[in-house]
Amino acid sequence: MKKIGVLTSGGDAPGMNAAIRAVTRAGIAKGMEVVGIRRGYNGLINGDIIPLDIRSVSDIIQRGGTVLYTARCAEFRYEEGLQKAKQTCLENGIEGIVVVGGDGSFRGAADLSARGILCVGIPGTIDNDISMSEYTIGYDTAMNTAMQLVDKLRDTAHSHDRCSVVEVMGRNAGYIALNTGVACGATYIITKEEPFTMNDVYNKIINGLKNGKHHFIIVVAEGIGNSEQIAKDIERETGVESRATILGHVQRGGSPTVRDRVAASQMGYHAVELLSRNTGNRVVGLQGNQIVDYDIQEALNMHKEFDHELYRVASEINF
Ligand code: F6P
Repeated sequence: MKKIGVLTSGGDAPGMNAAIRAVTRAGIAKGMEVVGIRRGYNGLINGDIIPLDIRSVSDIIQRGGTVLYTARCAEFRYEEGLQKAKQTCLENGIEGIVVVGGDGSFRGAADLSARGILCVGIPGTIDNDISMSEYTIGYDTAMNTAMQLVDKLRDTAHSHDRCSVVEVMGRNAGYIALNTGVACGATYIITKEEPFTMNDVYNKIINGLKNGKHHFIIVVAEGIGNSEQIAKDIERETGVESRATILGHVQRGGSPTVRDRVAASQMGYHAVELLSRNTGNRVVGLQGNQIVDYDIQEALNMHKEFDHELYRVASEINF
């Protein structure tokens, strides 16, 4: 393979730049030409392509966001969009593409691979909701950001004897909520993956009050929603003044942690190795700290187990 492209797609995640850097440097080291495709698959449809050399990816490993910009591209779900993208690749001599993104982006990568442009996916999302990989780029940074913010909320909850209901991101997945909740000693973690009733939450707070506790942190996964209502219900049922905070997009920003930079570098390198062997339609991931890769369709059909044991531990030690 003589020329490859790299793009970032879906929600941005800290560490995407480290992945772009790794792909570019690995490609050049293997004698390939590397280009950046901007704003996800839109860049393939519109021909928004820039050359990348070793210096154009200098000084980005530590930066959050993505220097290639990102987007979700509805047109890519249809044959017309895919054909336009293929045409752009043929016109620009792009034989392979590394796609950094989530499940939706991998579907696009499979569709384009089936049309002769070999694509390899790298899981880049703060949600950690990619089944084939224990870890996704951006997850660690997002959890650390959430943890720091919840720590700040705890200061004010403590001062006012309040309950702080904190909603963290994760789309439909509760991984950020679980780990942030454990790391912050949350009184209760509400996620879709674990059955709960609001009575359980009230009782935990009421028992805490009996044990001399004056302030409470309740972490709510985004997929549950209704954090404002949850705070109102807690106040009504327990008598503890409550406030809701939705952390939101602040969790997507910031300089990536060591873990995200290292994972992005490993995965980016491995993706280029696959392309250099003319292997596409794969997704790269991490399992037990080992780099693995799977057929995209197989990866999309996999199931990830929630860490119920960690949840149980949190329930038993946080009261
Ligand atoms: O997938 C990352 C994520 O931040 C989710 O946690 C969240 O549900 C979603 O993206 C938000 O998307 P947008 O940036 O389009 O509002």
